[in-house]
Amino acid sequence: MATNGGGRRLVIARRNINRRDFLKLSGASLAGISLLGVAGCGGGGGGGQGGGGGELIFNTGPEQTGTLQKLVDEYPDGNVQYQLAPTDTGQFFDQLRNRFQAGEASPQVVGGDVIWPAQFAASGFIAPLNDFFPQDQQQAFAEGPIRSNSYEGEIYGVPWYIDVGLLYYRKDLLEQAGFSEPPRTWEELKQQAQKVMQDAGTKNGFVFQGSRYEGGVCNGLEYIRTHGGDVTDLNDVNKVVADSPETAAGLATYRSMVEDGIAPQSVTTFTELESQAAFLSGDTVFIRNWPYLYGLLSDPEQSKIKPEQVGVVPLPVADGGELAGTLGGWNMFINANAEDPEAAYKFAEYLTAPEQQKEYALGAKFVPTRTELLTDPEVQEALPVLKTASEAFETARPRPVSPVYSDMSLVMQEQFNAVLAGDIPPDEATGRMQEELQGIVEAQ
Ligand code: GLC
Repeated sequence: MATNGGGRRLVIARRNINRRDFLKLSGASLAGISLLGVAGCGGGGGGGQGGGGGELIFNTGPEQTGTLQKLVDEYPDGNVQYQLAPTDTGQFFDQLRNRFQAGEASPQVVGGDVIWPAQFAASGFIAPLNDFFPQDQQQAFAEGPIRSNSYEGEIYGVPWYIDVGLLYYRKDLLEQAGFSEPPRTWEELKQQAQKVMQDAGTKNGFVFQGSRYEGGVCNGLEYIRTHGGDVTDLNDVNKVVADSPETAAGLATYRSMVEDGIAPQSVTTFTELESQAAFLSGDTVFIRNWPYLYGLLSDPEQSKIKPEQVGVVPLPVADGGELAGTLGGWNMFINANAEDPEAAYKFAEYLTAPEQQKEYALGAKFVPTRTELLTDPEVQEALPVLKTASEAFETARPRPVSPVYSDMSLVMQEQFNAVLAGDIPPDEATGRMQEELQGIVEAQ
């Protein structure tokens, strides 16, 4: 199985990519994701056990526009309960792993993270779907998510939506401060943020997900990789390369956001939700977040700012660096213990069918995985990020693909957060990561 994002990486100068290239590159760059999960502890959320009387339990995280609940309610072929999972992907993973380990037959259908399939597949927790989801049907989906749901020649998930880290910026505030273009580099971002904060008195220059959890890993890796560093070798996940000047430089830039007063100190505790609140309140110039955030801008109950005030582009890079937004995304998995896998699959098929994916894209602004929808004019209009940030999708980088990723993630969560908080210097963190990740990889 491929261990990297396909190797096709573009410099930021590249523009005007046609549709075919876009889809091909998306596929290439999305390649290789497979497994892993995120360990952590505990895990709240989740509802009752359910599963009796022909009712299907569909377990996934909250969706903020209500579109998902509507789609579940409209399912024509049975009674489905949307069982709310924790927002935190690590907690959700732990909760599911416990339930699977206990042999529970429910939830029958899981909407789960792109970093889970191989780990759950290797443990025998989720069912191979080859009979339900043959290759001719898989061809309707972007190549990358299909690969990411494949493990040892079998397909374990139906791609639902694609995520990549993006930079949202306040067009109006940048214009007022005399900036006609959003930043291309982290330095430019800092300069622009500083000027807007001074001129307009905006409270925060930049917010992101700096907490000690999986989202923090996604953010930290973006700084490291846009500085030319990494934690594992692009082509060999068992080769740890964390202790490099480039990796340390990436973490130094990460820390500088807080140190230089661009980001508030509290960003060290921010997940998607806190960062989103800081941006939607109108108090923030820039935010790093996933595509879903765009959908909330058009809801006056959620957002004080309007879509017209916001632009979305790929995340900045270091001087001369390459784009490297972290790849995310969610998929439909079927519990290997489900009593009626066919009924479970039917629901997964429904949510990922063209009509429902389109409604999800239009209503909740999630990026669809069916290629026909990526070029659908209505979807493109609802999701301007498909055009304005197309390069971010082309160059998205998966997290390390390893059966021990969950342990690796814990190490990164701790070190990235400690650097951001100013608790340890970047070069100490890279040394620790090298040692700890090496230990994990060797102990497999
Ligand atoms: C998003 C991504 C997912 C990632 C998570 C981190 O949900 O799709 O891949 O693990 O954010 O918070």
